[in-house]
Amino acid sequence: MRGRYTIAVLPGDGIGPEVTAEAVRVLESVGRRFELEFTLDHHPVGAAGVATAGEPLPPATRAAVLDADAVLLGAVGDPRLDHEPRHKRPETGLLALRALLGVYANLRPVMVHPALAFCSPLKPDRLTGVDLVIVRELTGGLYYGEPRGTEDGGAAAVNTLRYTAAEIERVARVAFELARTRRRRLLSVDKANVLETSQLWRDTVTRLAAEYPDVTLEHCYVDYAAMRLVSEPASIDVLLTENMFGDILSDEAAVLVGSLGLLPSASLGAGPGLFEPIHGSAPALAGRNVANPIGAIGAAALLLRHGLGLAEAADAVDDAIRGALAEGCRTRDIALPGVDGLGTREMGERIAELVQRPAARQPATLSPGASPRS
Ligand code: IPM
Ligand code: MN
Repeated sequence: MRGRYTIAVLPGDGIGPEVTAEAVRVLESVGRRFELEFTLDHHPVGAAGVATAGEPLPPATRAAVLDADAVLLGAVGDPRLDHEPRHKRPETGLLALRALLGVYANLRPVMVHPALAFCSPLKPDRLTGVDLVIVRELTGGLYYGEPRGTEDGGAAAVNTLRYTAAEIERVARVAFELARTRRRRLLSVDKANVLETSQLWRDTVTRLAAEYPDVTLEHCYVDYAAMRLVSEPASIDVLLTENMFGDILSDEAAVLVGSLGLLPSASLGAGPGLFEPIHGSAPALAGRNVANPIGAIGAAALLLRHGLGLAEAADAVDDAIRGALAEGCRTRDIALPGVDGLGTREMGERIAELVQRPAARQPATLSPGASPRS
């Protein structure tokens, strides 16, 4: 394998820079093993953007991400900016970045590592065989709908939930195609008993299903989906839903794996993809070398797989993560009570080392029922 790639690295705020540094360390290790050349240029976003350029998505960062082959993001958010006007908030930078890149399909895979089953508050028997992906629509719905704002001098506020059939169709296609590479089951989540946008969602997904006769489609309401995610999570393969429902359900799904720090996400559109851990900036943990870098490193694996089409390199990273967990490496969030665990850096260093060792593959530790990866 050979190739040259430009990756825009946006560490962001809080623990973002620490976990991103470990993802970069792992990418550099991948580069050595597979003879790939990565140009990894760093750019500010979020509160870091406000601090350096007065806005959460500075023009130089915009230009860099559009020019890159893929974008690796840490996290954004800083409670000190919570009372700033919305255009100066870190989260506004992230939403603008998603819109700029047009990344309408957000993939959030959730797999339970057997050695970590004790981290989850759920009974272990519920966790056996959990291997699901949430596909969240990312550039529409309530997050972006107009009109929005406050009215009557702050006595009222409005947001708009609007979807077009075209927006629903393009993200649904991603979910159907993904289901085809897995257990061929698609669960589409909506609130069609109450919302017109959800009825359009259900009708559009149903219409599309005719093109995917090999995929079993099921619809369910979002309230029931929330229950099902914790009562029978192993029954779910690909879960497709709109922006706001997906935001909420994906944090709930993180409970299954025991720590928000473990989960990565990929946001895909027509241009460069955006890859980030699903956790936030966790200001209380920042600068202390205690954050779990596995979500960020997993995001680097998704970047290799979906952003650059380098499946073998992506497998090496996923194997290294599994290998480190199998040999007992733990950051504080996933350690047994009373155990100190590794620091962010030490965990990253170990995973970067394991990337160099193909012999470190640990297929026996795959969760039972896990589908073979491509
Ligand atoms: C996420 C986050 C973001 C979202 C915030 C930080 C704007 O919670 O990626 O899930 O709501 O989409
Ligand atoms: Mn969220």
